[in-house]
Amino acid sequence: MALSGRREIIADVRPLLRILGVARELLASYAAIVASGVLVAATGLAVPFIIKAATDEVVASMSGTGVGVPAVLWLAFLLLLVDLANTLITNVGGYLGDVMAVRLRSILSRNYFEKLLRLPQRYFDSELTGTIISRLQRSITETTGFLNMFANNFLPMLLSLAAALVIIGWYSWWLALLLLAVYPLFTWLTAITSKRWQRLEREKNAEFDIAGGRFAEVAGQIRVVKSFVAERRELDHFAGRYDTTIALTKEQSAFWHRMDVARRGTLNLIFFGIYAIIFSLTITGDFTLGVMVLLIQLVSMARQPVQSMSFLVDASQRAITGSRDYFQVMDAAVESAAVEADAPRPVEPSTAPGEPIVEFCDARFGYGDEVEVLKGVSFDVRRGERVAFVGESGVGKTTLSSLLLGLYPLTGGRLVVDGRDVGSIPLPELRAQVGVVFQDPSLFSGTIRENIAYGRPDASEDEIVEAARRAHAHGFIIGLPGGYDAEIGERGVKLSGGQKQRIAVARALLKDAPILVLDEATSSLDSKAERLVQEGLDELMAERTTLIIAHRLSTISSVDRIITLADGRIDEIGTPDELARTGGIYAELLELQHAGTKAGRRRLQRYEILG
Ligand SMILES: Nc1ncnc2c1ncn2[C@@H]1O[C@H](COP(=O)(O)OP(=O)(O)OP(=O)(O)O)[C@@H](O)[C@H]1O
Ligand SMILES: [Mg+2]
Repeated sequence: MALSGRREIIADVRPLLRILGVARELLASYAAIVASGVLVAATGLAVPFIIKAATDEVVASMSGTGVGVPAVLWLAFLLLLVDLANTLITNVGGYLGDVMAVRLRSILSRNYFEKLLRLPQRYFDSELTGTIISRLQRSITETTGFLNMFANNFLPMLLSLAAALVIIGWYSWWLALLLLAVYPLFTWLTAITSKRWQRLEREKNAEFDIAGGRFAEVAGQIRVVKSFVAERRELDHFAGRYDTTIALTKEQSAFWHRMDVARRGTLNLIFFGIYAIIFSLTITGDFTLGVMVLLIQLVSMARQPVQSMSFLVDASQRAITGSRDYFQVMDAAVESAAVEADAPRPVEPSTAPGEPIVEFCDARFGYGDEVEVLKGVSFDVRRGERVAFVGESGVGKTTLSSLLLGLYPLTGGRLVVDGRDVGSIPLPELRAQVGVVFQDPSLFSGTIRENIAYGRPDASEDEIVEAARRAHAHGFIIGLPGGYDAEIGERGVKLSGGQKQRIAVARALLKDAPILVLDEATSSLDSKAERLVQEGLDELMAERTTLIIAHRLSTISSVDRIITLADGRIDEIGTPDELARTGGIYAELLELQHAGTKAGRRRLQRYEILG
């Protein structure tokens, strides 16, 4: 039991040691802190000896054989010097510890964020943003806090303990042995506590993470919460998670303290024995009064670490759980080897105009294991061509563009872009070639200028304005207070849907990629604005390959080819004229639109198509 317990503790400590390994550049400052810890311990250890000397001197002087007051005053002065040195070094060590902790925090946070940026899209599909943040906060706070405390408080304590044991052993080896027995006993008692404690801690953290995730989500979409008057429900849900943590903490803490009573009770018994021995041996004359005073001080020095060990064990267990959470993320499989220094610029495709630049060959894909979204899809898009995708909502149109961006790997078949299999193209390179106007405009807080230049932060003012003009956004931008420097709020909340969309179009225009995907890029514009944006898009599309997913039949009618999708497969491919005559999905949509009946409109709505 003891052995397996100890092995468990060692296994548990590994992530903590890994954290130290990650921050190798801090080892020098960690060493300095350790050195100051040694000095603190040394100066601390000098005190009992000086007091022993003073006690002996007092006893001698009282019996008429000592030097008297001057000697004890010198000893008191020596005590002062040692104390002052101790104070000074403690504080220097404290400073070093604070700086190291914040540097460690900065390294760990940066690595964590870098790691997140390299994780595949799939990871983010199933994690709440707030949860990711809450986990980062906790892991790092607890780990750095612990390491700082360890270096600053616990290490000096351990050192004084070791020294105290040696000195006590000098006077009485079996007294030292008795004291030594305390530590394995304590460690064993801690090990049997650890497992259950950590399980409860993990459960608690999971609750905190869920609550934190929801909190961030609610704050980000407060408009929806307000509109459905769902505040109470959100509050109850949030509070409920915290209530659960109270229950878990009660269980955890009661267990912890029960074990602590057992631990400390055992210690108290052992110390009872130790004191009884010291007192008795002094009376029998084995120890002088000075030695007794020395031993009492050393024993209390040795006792202190054991008592604060409960606290340390508590903090270290939190840190262990925290570092494990941290490494769980750090060990997740990434999609790229490193974060790219700069977004690569789009390059001229090697495919000749009119040749296939995007080829889906029997492509299969599903987000999870159960449902296949694409069940073998084959088509190509030629360089310079405009191809529209039509299909019911949820059929997999946006999925096609995600695959083109390399956000997910195919589960079967092939996807070839500009003559190369997507799997063999470095992702930044692939993504540089594909410009996307997303279905949801997805802007960032910051200024309009920053948003338009998101893909090219080095773009000149002229280029930014030109992109905005072509997206028919310039007019409304200069009307905003602040113009291009107007702050648009989180995800662009201060803009209208159509304004956001036009900024997103401008952002894609500025990127100037040879392959363009417009995922319902004009869906939240009214007909007039749409016509205007459409002109910009037409100009943009003129020189490049475009994949259009559109709501409006009017947008689609001018494309080169239409691809209709149904049930995860291609239904038809052809020019708008051809497809108008085949009686397929597109023809049906056209007919319904012309008929203008209620039933027709309903059917159109299933395709989210507006007349
Ligand atoms: N990140 C995701 N994780 C799991 N399933 C997803 C994810 N994104 C989409 N799906 C599922 O994949 C299917 C295809 O979604 P997709 O977004 O490609 O549809 P769409 O054709 O673009 O629809 P719409 O016209 O409504 O935008 C849907 O059934 C959807 O439920
Ligand atoms: Mg979609």
